[in-house]
Amino acid sequence: MKLTKLMGCMAITSALLASCSGQNNNATNNGACEKNGINQTIETIKTRRSCRIFNPDSMPSKEVLAQIAEAGTWAPTGMGTQNPIILVVTKKEMRDRIVKMNAKVMGKDSIDPFYGAPCMMIVLSKKEGTTVYDGTTVMTTLMLAAKSLGVESCWIHRAKEEFESEEGKAILKDLGIEGEYEGIGHVALGYANGEIPAPKERKPDYIHWIE
Ligand SMILES: Cc1cc2nc3c(=O)[nH]c(=O)nc-3n(C[C@H](O)[C@H](O)[C@H](O)COP(=O)(O)O)c2cc1C
Repeated sequence: MKLTKLMGCMAITSALLASCSGQNNNATNNGACEKNGINQTIETIKTRRSCRIFNPDSMPSKEVLAQIAEAGTWAPTGMGTQNPIILVVTKKEMRDRIVKMNAKVMGKDSIDPFYGAPCMMIVLSKKEGTTVYDGTTVMTTLMLAAKSLGVESCWIHRAKEEFESEEGKAILKDLGIEGEYEGIGHVALGYANGEIPAPKERKPDYIHWIE
């Protein structure tokens, strides 16, 4: 094997290993991340929960938020169109504005539908092809990436109505975002300020095998 090719293989192997955090990790032959015999990706999927009790004073670092957002850009999209965009909102003024807009859609002006989360990511998706499907894969990827980095999250709905409003359109215009976008959802992000309830049992007829 040529030296450059060998070095390339070594770089890929070390990247795979580096993608698993913690001790006793190993990358198995098929690239799965395991720690103490437990697949870390599946563990993240199964242990992610919606957080509805955030510490408003505990903001994830910009570095962590950037990792979460970047992970979102790797979500699959129909025909690889990369229709979605992600707004990362850490500015309190804008966070509070979105919270108000969201509560207004609910018809409940005085509540915080974001449960005190200090920041959020908003996913919008270009109105072309598989718009909503593309946006939802990004939403899920963001929540799982957050979990893998110890950040709690909750999907908050009503982004569609928010960005159909004149105020929502003005926000996008101010950001220089042009074109037709549909609001898909918000991911409230932060650290928990209390216990997160245990999940419901999975329904028995979720999976149907056809063998
Ligand atoms: C499309 C969608 C919209 C959601 N909207 C909200 C919401 O507006 N507020 C909220 O508290 N949770 C919302 N959730 C979170 C769900 O309520 C939550 O995922 C579900 O109860 C299962 O709990 P888990 O996420 O802890 O597994 C939403 C989830 C999805 C997929």
